[in-house]
Amino acid sequence: MKRIAVLTSGGDAPGMNAAIRAVVRTGISKGWEVFGIRQGYAGCMTGDIIPLGARDVGGIIQQGGTILGSARCPAFTTEDGRRQAIRALRQHNIEGLVVIGGNGSQTGSYELHKMGFPVVGVASTIDNDLYGSEITIGVDTALNIALEAIDRLKVTASSHQRAFLIEVMGRHCGYLALMAGIAGGAEAIVIPEAELPPDKVADEIQEAYERGKKHGIVVVAEGARYNAEKLEAYFKENEEQLGFDLRVTKLGHVQRGGEPLAFDRILATRIGAGAVHALERGETGKLAGLNNGDITLTPLDEVVANKKSLNPELIELAGILAK
Ligand code: F6P
Repeated sequence: MKRIAVLTSGGDAPGMNAAIRAVVRTGISKGWEVFGIRQGYAGCMTGDIIPLGARDVGGIIQQGGTILGSARCPAFTTEDGRRQAIRALRQHNIEGLVVIGGNGSQTGSYELHKMGFPVVGVASTIDNDLYGSEITIGVDTALNIALEAIDRLKVTASSHQRAFLIEVMGRHCGYLALMAGIAGGAEAIVIPEAELPPDKVADEIQEAYERGKKHGIVVVAEGARYNAEKLEAYFKENEEQLGFDLRVTKLGHVQRGGEPLAFDRILATRIGAGAVHALERGETGKLAGLNNGDITLTPLDEVVANKKSLNPELIELAGILAK
């Protein structure tokens, strides 16, 4: 194998640049040429492919986002789109591809693999909802950004005896909300895996005040059925009867924009290098991830067929510690 390419796809995640750097420099260390594909699968289809040398990835390990750009690319979900991408890769004599991204991106990797193109995935999404890696690139940094917000909101919540609701990212998965709620000492956590209807959220806050707490912090995952809008509407409607009001902060994309913390830089570096080693061994059609402290390779068919679940003990723990 002489020429490989790397792309970043889907929602960006702090640490993607560290992964690109690791792929490039590990590839070069094997005597290979490494190329970057811009704007994810969209650039793959149009052949937007540039050479990347060791110096091109200098000074990026500490940068958030992705120097290659990323995209969600509906055209790539069609077979024609994928054929076009493979044609472009072959025109550039690319013999192996590293795809840095989450669920949607690794579904794309799997499709390329099934069409015979050698590909290895790198587990990267702030949502931590990707089967095959117990933690993914970007999660730790995103979690710390959410925590900083919660800590700050708790201060003002205590001053005013107010309830605050913080909505964190996580389209289908409550991992970020659960962990931010545990680490931030929330009074209630609302996630798709353990829904809490608005009246129960209100009860939690009410009881917290009765126990002498000065603040009521609710952390909600954006993917929960009772999301920020629904909870806010309920609290507005019942403000008088409840005796307290609720302020809402939606963190949104702020969580994706940070500079990667040490954990994500190291995780991304290890997984990125692991993906290149896998390409060298011909272990393609797999996702490089972290499990029990080791870099592992999980077949992409397993990755796309399985859903990562939240540890129920952590959900229970959150409830106990909120008291
Ligand atoms: O998948 C990562 C993620 O940040 C989700 O938490 C969120 O729902 C989604 O991406 C937002 O996507 P977009 O950046 O396309 O709005």
